[in-house]
Amino acid sequence: MKISRLVSRIPASSTLAIDAKVKELKAQSRDVIGFGAGEPDFDTPENIKNSAIEALRKGRTKYTPVGGTPELKEAICATVHKDYGLTVAPDNVIVSCGAKHSLYNLFLSLFEAGDEVICPAPYWVSYPPMIEIAGATPVIVDTRPTGMKLLASLAEEAITRNTRGIVINSPSNPTGMVYAREELEKIADLCVKHDIIIISDDIYQKILFDGAEFFSLATLSPEVARRTFIINGASKTYAMTGWRIGYCVGDASVIKAMTRLQSQSTSNPTTFAQDGALTSLTSDQSLVEERCRIFQKRRDLMVTKIREIPGFGITPPEGAFYAFPSIDGHMDRFGGATAFAEFLLDKALVAVVPGEGFGAQNHVRVSFATSEETIVTGLARIRDAVSSL
Ligand SMILES: Cc1ncc(COP(=O)(O)O)c(C=O)c1O
Repeated sequence: MKISRLVSRIPASSTLAIDAKVKELKAQSRDVIGFGAGEPDFDTPENIKNSAIEALRKGRTKYTPVGGTPELKEAICATVHKDYGLTVAPDNVIVSCGAKHSLYNLFLSLFEAGDEVICPAPYWVSYPPMIEIAGATPVIVDTRPTGMKLLASLAEEAITRNTRGIVINSPSNPTGMVYAREELEKIADLCVKHDIIIISDDIYQKILFDGAEFFSLATLSPEVARRTFIINGASKTYAMTGWRIGYCVGDASVIKAMTRLQSQSTSNPTTFAQDGALTSLTSDQSLVEERCRIFQKRRDLMVTKIREIPGFGITPPEGAFYAFPSIDGHMDRFGGATAFAEFLLDKALVAVVPGEGFGAQNHVRVSFATSEETIVTGLARIRDAVSSL
C-alpha cells in the first residue's frame, strides 16, 4: 500500500539494523554482548511498583484528565520548585506517554513549515525527525570541534530570521556532556535577543558524576523562564522506561495546545503508571543517588577500558549513562561508524550504536547501563578485534 509522504520521509532508527542483528545472533544462541541500552538496567524501585499495584487494586483503571492527574501535576510543580526554584502551577504542566511524547506534542504545537530549530550535534536521535514531522527544519550545528558543546558564537552563526527554537540537552545523550552556567547564560542571551524558544531536555538531570552540577536555562531569569520548556520524566531517574511517563513544563497557552493535541491522539497516559510516577516523585530519593554512584563506578571502568583500545578517543562523560568515544583511528578503513559497528558485531560479537544517527559518524555510543563484568568482557573483545586489524 502507498505510505504517506510524511511518514515515508522519516528515517528508520540507525540502531534498528544493529538491534535486529543482535536479536538474530541471540536467537542462534550466540554469546553477543549489547552496549545499546538506552535505559537503566536496574529494576523500578519496589515502593513505586507497589503503589501502581495498589492503584490497580483500588480500581484506578479508568481515564484521567488528558494532561495527567491533578495529584501528579501538583507533585511535578513541587519537584520543579525544589529542583529549579521556580514556582509553576498545574496549568503549566502536561503529563504525556513518556518524555518523547511530550517533546512530540511540543514540537507539533510550536513549529511549522518555514520555522528553523537549532539542534546541536551530536543530538538525541529523535529530535530532527520530530522537528521534520512538524514541518519545520532542524538546523544542525556540529559541536564536535568545540568539545561537544554549543558555543554561543556557533549558535549565533546558525540563527536566521526563521529561527524559532533551540534544543538543549544536558546531561546529553549521547555525549554525557553537561553545560556550565556561564555557557548557558550566553546562549540564553541570544535566545532573548532573537526571540527564540528554548527546549530544555533535562531527562538525565539526576545522573551526574564527579560533582558535576546540573543547571537549567529555565532558572536564569523570569525572561528566560518564560521562553523555556522543561522536558523531564520518570524513565531514566527511576528506571521506569516501560511505564511511559514524561512531562513538559512551560507557558500555559502552549501546554493547553499540547493537551488539545494529546486529547486527539493518546488521551491520558496510563492511569496506574501515573500513580507510580507520583510515588517516584514524592518518596525518599536516596536510591537515585545510590544508583548514580553505581553508574559513576561503571563510567570510570568504561573510560579506563576504552582508553586501552587503539584508535579510540574518549572525553569522560559527566552525566547520563553513555560513553561516546571517537573512532578516528578506524575511519580510513571503515569510512563510518555503521560499518565499524557491523565489524564489531561480526568479529567480536559486541553491539554498539553507530554515531551516524546522532549526527557524528566518527563516534559510537556505548551504554554503561550494564554490569561491570559485561563492561570488562565486552571492551576486551572490542580491543582484541581492533588490535587484529
Ligand atoms: C535525551 C532524551 N530525551 C528524551 C528521551 C525520552 O524518554 P522517555 O520517552 O522514555 O521518557 C530520551 C530517551 O532515550 C532521551 O535520551
